[in-house]
Amino acid sequence: MTSLLHQNIQQWYQQYGRLDLPWRQTRDPYAIWVSEIMLQQTQVKTVLERFYFPFLEAFPTFKSLALAPLDAVLKQWEGLGYYTRAHHLHQAARQLGDAFPKSIEELICLPGIGQSTAHAIAVFAYGMPVPILDANIKRILCRFYALKSPTSKQLWDHAYKLLDSHHPYEYNQAMMDIGSMLCQSKQTNCSVCPLSVKCRGRQTNPLNFPQPKIKKKVPIRQRYIVIYERNEHLALIQRKSRFLHGLWGFYEYKTAYLDGKDIGKIIQKYSHFHLHASVYISHQKIDHDVWFQKDKIHTLALSGADIKVLKLYLNYCVRSVNYKSK
Ligand code: ADE
Repeated sequence: MTSLLHQNIQQWYQQYGRLDLPWRQTRDPYAIWVSEIMLQQTQVKTVLERFYFPFLEAFPTFKSLALAPLDAVLKQWEGLGYYTRAHHLHQAARQLGDAFPKSIEELICLPGIGQSTAHAIAVFAYGMPVPILDANIKRILCRFYALKSPTSKQLWDHAYKLLDSHHPYEYNQAMMDIGSMLCQSKQTNCSVCPLSVKCRGRQTNPLNFPQPKIKKKVPIRQRYIVIYERNEHLALIQRKSRFLHGLWGFYEYKTAYLDGKDIGKIIQKYSHFHLHASVYISHQKIDHDVWFQKDKIHTLALSGADIKVLKLYLNYCVRSVNYKSK
C-alpha cells in the first residue's frame, strides 16, 4: 500500500528532483559505485563538473580500474581530496573477480564500502528495497522523527520505517535531493517539503534536530616547504605515510628553513588540521634520486598543497624570466 506521504515524495521527485544527474541515467553498478564514493565527501557540482566523467573515461569498467597503476588512479583523483577513497576503489576493483557483486553482503566486504554505500549500489543498480543513510538523509530523519542524538541503530530503524519499498529508487534519490535542496543543515523550506505534513520537528523548530555538534577548533600546522632545483629539474618524493599515501610532493620540514629563496606562502585546509606553509627554492646539494623536469611535474599526482606550491613556483619562474628580459 502506498501512503499519502510516499505519494507526495514521488510527485515531488518527478517535478523537482535532479533526474538528469548522470549517475541517475545509468544502472551500471560500477558507475554508480564510483559516483557514490566521489559524492561521500564532495559536493554534487564538483563531482559533476570535474571528476565523474574523466574518471569513467579513464577507467570505464571495474576491470580497467583493476588493471590501472595506482599512480594513474591517484592522478584522476587529484584535487578531489580524501585520497583513501581512491586507494579503496582501486583495492576493491582488484579484489573483484569476473562479475560485480550482486548482494549487499558481498558489497560490504569490499574496502571503502559501508552499509549505506552498499545499499546505495543495491537500490540504484539493482532496485533492491533498502534505505540509504547518508548525512542528508540522517538529518531529514532526525527532523521528521524529532530526534536529538539518535544512535546508528535507531537511525537505521527509522530509515527502514520510512522507506517506500514499492519505489525504493525514486524514494532514496528524492530523500537525497530533499536533504540538499529543502532540508539543509542551517536552512529549511518546510512550506514546499513533501514530508512536512507528518514532520514532528516542524511542530517546534526543525533546526533543533539533530542537536548541533560543538565544532572542534582545527589546529594550524606551520611547515616549511622546499623546492630543490637542479638544472631545470626538481626533487619530489612519493609519500609513504598513511596520510596522502602515494601522492608526490616537495620536501617539507617542521623547522624554519634558512638556506633558500622565500617565494611565498600557501594555506591548505584539511578536515583535521590547516596547513600554513612558507615556500622556498633551494639550490643546496641534497642526496636525492628522482628529479623531475619542471614542465613534467603536472603529470604526477600531487596533493592539493603541492599543486599550490607548484603554481607559486611556476609563477615565480615566469616573473624572473620577465624580469631578466627587461
Ligand atoms: N550523494 C550521494 N549519492 C547521491 C546521488 N545518487 N545523487 C545526489 N547526491 C548524492
